[in-house]
Amino acid sequence: MHYPEELIEEIRVSNNIVDVISGYVKLKRKGNSYFGLCPFHNEKSPSFSVSPQKQMYYCFGCHAGGNVITFLMEYEHFTFLEALQELAGRSGIKLPNPEYSKEERIKADKKSAVLEINKLAANYFYSMLKSDSGKVGFEYLKKRQLTDETIRHFGLGYSLQYRDDLYRYLKQKGYADELLKESGLISYNEKYGASDKFWNRVIFPIMNVNSKVIGFGGRVMGEGEPKYLNSPETICFDKSRNLYGLNFARTTRKQYMLLCEGYMDVISMHQAGFTNAVASLGTAFTERHAALLKRYTREIILVYDSDDAGTNAALRAIPMLRGVDISVRVLRMEPYKDPDEFIKNLGADEFQKRIDDAKNSFLFEIEMLQKQYSMDDPESKTRFFREAAIKLLDFREELERENYIQKLASIYKIEPAQLKSLVKSVSITLSGSPAPRQPKSTVQKKEKEESGIILSQKLFLTWLIEQPSLYNKVKSLITPKDFTEDFFRRVAEMLYEQLDDNKLNPAAIISCFTDEEEQRKVAGMFNASLGQIETNDEKEKALNDTIYRLKENSIKYASEHLDSTDLKGLQELVKERKNLQSLKQMHIFID
Ligand code: GTP
Ligand code: MN
Repeated sequence: MHYPEELIEEIRVSNNIVDVISGYVKLKRKGNSYFGLCPFHNEKSPSFSVSPQKQMYYCFGCHAGGNVITFLMEYEHFTFLEALQELAGRSGIKLPNPEYSKEERIKADKKSAVLEINKLAANYFYSMLKSDSGKVGFEYLKKRQLTDETIRHFGLGYSLQYRDDLYRYLKQKGYADELLKESGLISYNEKYGASDKFWNRVIFPIMNVNSKVIGFGGRVMGEGEPKYLNSPETICFDKSRNLYGLNFARTTRKQYMLLCEGYMDVISMHQAGFTNAVASLGTAFTERHAALLKRYTREIILVYDSDDAGTNAALRAIPMLRGVDISVRVLRMEPYKDPDEFIKNLGADEFQKRIDDAKNSFLFEIEMLQKQYSMDDPESKTRFFREAAIKLLDFREELERENYIQKLASIYKIEPAQLKSLVKSVSITLSGSPAPRQPKSTVQKKEKEESGIILSQKLFLTWLIEQPSLYNKVKSLITPKDFTEDFFRRVAEMLYEQLDDNKLNPAAIISCFTDEEEQRKVAGMFNASLGQIETNDEKEKALNDTIYRLKENSIKYASEHLDSTDLKGLQELVKERKNLQSLKQMHIFID
């Protein structure tokens, strides 16, 4: 779904990014850019930059970045169209009806129709809950101590005991069977025809971050199997990209979020004032969820059930969250099973205390590890300390590792020096060298090399944007083909085209991508930095090195992917190799 490109550009250009962002973030001029505290993560010193030349923002801390349109999308959680409308309004531009390609229109129509059906269904379930025939559902929720306000806030509902009650309601609203099937709310069967997915269940509408209903969960009343039934994935419901409660939690702007297992847990926590609680949707927590949370918070407190399943789920979630640099603590609810029970029994103040006391996730992992060993048996105890020592090796930073050694030593009653020497000895056995575990596997090495190349590609593009006069000197040496990753190549092509036409406009390239992740990625490509480069000489050396590395990598890639029967490709490669040699002798001057 889109407006003509020219119009998008007109709207973007008529809204100076510095003016717009100044409305949200206090900015201070520093050289060619403006800096402020990043609105997308918590920080004490400003690493959020806004460049009037590039008409882009970029955060060197959390790598959020984009143009004026994506800023509103991220900050206000607008869709692309909503952001455009806002900006058009600001600059007094009138928007016509959007243009669609046929395929886009079909897909967009289907998606908005399913959203519309979901909304109707949610309202219907809600009205049933409030009706006489829905009394059982309402009483069930009341028995679970939910207030009217909570029921309204979460839009809880009830599906009646008939086989096709919702179906008939939606049919009467005029929706085609095909579309109803698409919504996941109705299923079809040769023998019985259409039937509702949910019967006789209390309904939990699932909303995305923009508070649009994208799916449903339904709980049996009392005992019964399955306890929860969830909508299948549909054109607008992707379980791994959504978290229950996130639409509310994201607006709290608290330092941390609470991650729990269930619908009812989220709801009771919100009702008790902990409005920053979210849950994965009846599916296991995944890396995608972690990446999603990373956009909204830097710290997670895990509030998983205190049974074995909950503990294991927590042990699985911890490394995923750490993987995206979210710090994790683990809240214990003993003697209760889940936050819902805990709050009912001990109340919000006690829960807040447990939040304050939540355990550092490393100490939690060690505590769970310890449970597998008997500390009375010397052999078993030794094995525990060995395992703990191995885990301590994960801390790369000496001081951090030292601090954890001290802490573990005091908890598990061992001399710090002894634990330290154990860490050293396991590291020798594990790696064959006395140094702490270094990235030494080939996989890790490869990753490191790749990220070096990626940085080179980003630096090259950044320099072209910051100093377009370089373009004529380098365009014959490096072409978009030398960018080995498909995405980078596409972006390089667009940038080269702009530079050829003498119309450099990096912020416009961002608008060519509709996926937020891609927009971020482009912004990152145009805002690379090598912190230590200061003088012109250093910059010149770095530029020459970068060009050489890009070419070298591109040749390496081509030779690895060359079909051995492709003679022309082979000749090309030989020529490129020669060029690479002469590139080594060459020096490009920055002036
Ligand atoms: P209550 O018993 O109502 O308090 O549920 P809860 O929210 O505490 O759920 P529980 O701890 O039993 O399970 C955690 C989450 O796992 C639920 O909220 C559901 O999202 C999901 N879940 C539980 N049981 C089922 C099931 O039978 N099927 C599916 N698909 N998901 C389930
Ligand atoms: Mn529960």
